[in-house]
Amino acid sequence: MDRPEIILAPGPTPIPPEVLLAQGSPLVYHRGPGFGNLMRDVTTRLKELYKTDSADVLLMTSSGTGGLESAIANCFSPGDEVLVPLAGFFSERFKKLAETYGLTVRTVEYEWGTKIRPDDVAAALAQHPVKAVLLTQSETSTGVIQPIEQLAKVANDAGALVIVDAVSSLGAVPFEFDGWGIDVAVGGSQKALSASPGIAFCAISERAWEASRSATNPRFYFDWATYKRFADLPHPENPWTPAISVMQGLQAALALYFQDGIEAAMVRHQMLSRAVKEGAKSLGLDLFGEGLEDNWTVTAIRAPENIDADTISDTIRADHGCVLAPGQGPLKGKVFRIGHFGYFSELDIIRGLAALEMTLETLGHPVKRGAAVAAAETVFMESRAS
Ligand SMILES: Cc1ncc(COP(=O)(O)O)c(C=O)c1O
Repeated sequence: MDRPEIILAPGPTPIPPEVLLAQGSPLVYHRGPGFGNLMRDVTTRLKELYKTDSADVLLMTSSGTGGLESAIANCFSPGDEVLVPLAGFFSERFKKLAETYGLTVRTVEYEWGTKIRPDDVAAALAQHPVKAVLLTQSETSTGVIQPIEQLAKVANDAGALVIVDAVSSLGAVPFEFDGWGIDVAVGGSQKALSASPGIAFCAISERAWEASRSATNPRFYFDWATYKRFADLPHPENPWTPAISVMQGLQAALALYFQDGIEAAMVRHQMLSRAVKEGAKSLGLDLFGEGLEDNWTVTAIRAPENIDADTISDTIRADHGCVLAPGQGPLKGKVFRIGHFGYFSELDIIRGLAALEMTLETLGHPVKRGAAVAAAETVFMESRAS
């Protein structure tokens, strides 16, 4: 019998029924008061999520990458210098994107799985000032949450703009646009908010707007000034035909998220993260990456020595319909990743761990049946008691 796959990947995350219903409801025509109210509501909620009173938040029809591309296209001119600390797949991709637009990219390089050291970034900026620092908050390939507050501080002290890829972290871990001095932060609909893929959001500070006025990189579809002109209409609009259904779903997703609020989401993500980590350890598996107690979005787990990690993710999917993420780049075949941010409950994690236990046994790795489930239950019961 066909059943939906059980997604335990770091995005797209499972979509709640309320969101599915909202995005399956009749279209609200994208020019007029109905869509205007929808956009205003979504934008207001996102500002709350970004923790900003001062920034503009623009909504674009694209996946997160489009939002990142918009930041590079709008803030810079060819030849502008930026600093990109590299510690995984997504920071490396940010570098490629900047280079595609003719920027000169300087780097501070780390082994994948490392937490970036603010002192190193400060030293690099002191040696060679740049126009901006490009950061990735949740390095989804390794699970590491980078210390954005401290990194933004050293960038601000050096007079550089701070541009953050928060695609897999906004709404999952703490973020403060105003409080941390961020200039651009990009999020996506399909990650911590558990809406469908298709909308990127971009928070933009006054300093970033100022940079965009003199920047000469080409832009048309992602021209911020055009988005802003339409967003400021009496009934806010997108310049181009937006992903209306996704926007309707995103409104429902935000309403659901804010039923409990940001703090409750943080507590839940931290708890689910601990449960996955304790569960994996109870099966004799090693965890990958620094700063495990802060890494609430996704856990990278090393495969046992004699089993290829991709075989684990392939087998658990074939046998149990459970989708884990494989390792990327140099981690391919070495780690598999379990996502635990967004619309996940305790029992979603438990059934994922149960499937993992059976899969490891099938592949010849000795496990004590129920060990990971028991470890996760212990985390949940302790959380309830505290
Ligand atoms: C940190 C990070 N940045 C960017 C992206 C790319 O986002 P999208 O696939 O929505 O374009 C992802 C996707 O997983 C991500 O995790």
